[in-house]
Amino acid sequence: MNLDEFRAMPDATKMVRDLWESHAGWWHEHFTEGADIEYVEQIIPAVVERCHGARFVLDVGGGEGQVARAITAALGVDVLVVEPSEAQVRRARALRTPVVRGAAEALPIASASVDTVTVVLVLEHVLDLEGALSEIARVLEPGGRLVLALNHPLIQVPDSGLVEDVELGETYWRFGHYLREDATVEEVAAGVYIPFVHRPLSSYLSAALAAGLDLREFSELAPPAGWLAQQAAGALLATLPRLLVTVWERR
Ligand SMILES: C[S@@+](CC[C@H](N)C(=O)[O-])C[C@H]1O[C@@H](n2cnc3c(N)ncnc32)[C@H](O)[C@@H]1O
Repeated sequence: MNLDEFRAMPDATKMVRDLWESHAGWWHEHFTEGADIEYVEQIIPAVVERCHGARFVLDVGGGEGQVARAITAALGVDVLVVEPSEAQVRRARALRTPVVRGAAEALPIASASVDTVTVVLVLEHVLDLEGALSEIARVLEPGGRLVLALNHPLIQVPDSGLVEDVELGETYWRFGHYLREDATVEEVAAGVYIPFVHRPLSSYLSAALAAGLDLREFSELAPPAGWLAQQAAGALLATLPRLLVTVWERR
């Protein structure tokens, strides 16, 4: 569905939050504590590497805290998770990770009080991108950095995916409606419904610049070797960026 129509639905934000609340257990089982090879091989190391020199890190939408714990373990820096889901917050507390309940669009944090913010695979589930980025910019001190990791928008387009054309003997990637902002609720596993927002790269770039953030790094990462080795179409997938990592500086 078109993003503006989705946002206009009564309780759209609540519905997105409720879906994450209901399926937090699925997320824990399949994507945390080493269960997901991309997190282990690429996502967590890519974020940790970009936090060097931080004095304090705020991890927005930090889930049960796996990224926060990895940053603290590698760099010895304190990290606070902000997370809206009660189930994620409970799990973070059980794992002794500092956490407060809150959402990206209304951070319970003082202005200009943080030198580093991390946001890892979160904004593609947030309906109000402008609100979230202006809150992140508000809490960052001038010169502070935002490390933003996203599922690359190119491969997150609804209706995109691998196509095997048996007659032609060809496998290719279908790109879908890249320029159209869309919100979908996808059944990612039996009975597990997760909300996704697709925006083209220009929407992320424009919203961040308008929020007072200047681009310092833009990395479209090829998938990691261990993940590719598990894919039948590995040779093709090696040429597509699954992860986008950007670093921004507060003006
Ligand atoms: C894909 S998980 C990523 C969790 C964590 N960043 C990680 O990488 O392990 C997405 C997380 O975003 C959270 N989330 C959803 N809407 C949010 C919002 N408006 N503000 C902040 N976090 C949100 C969800 O509750 C969920 O924990």
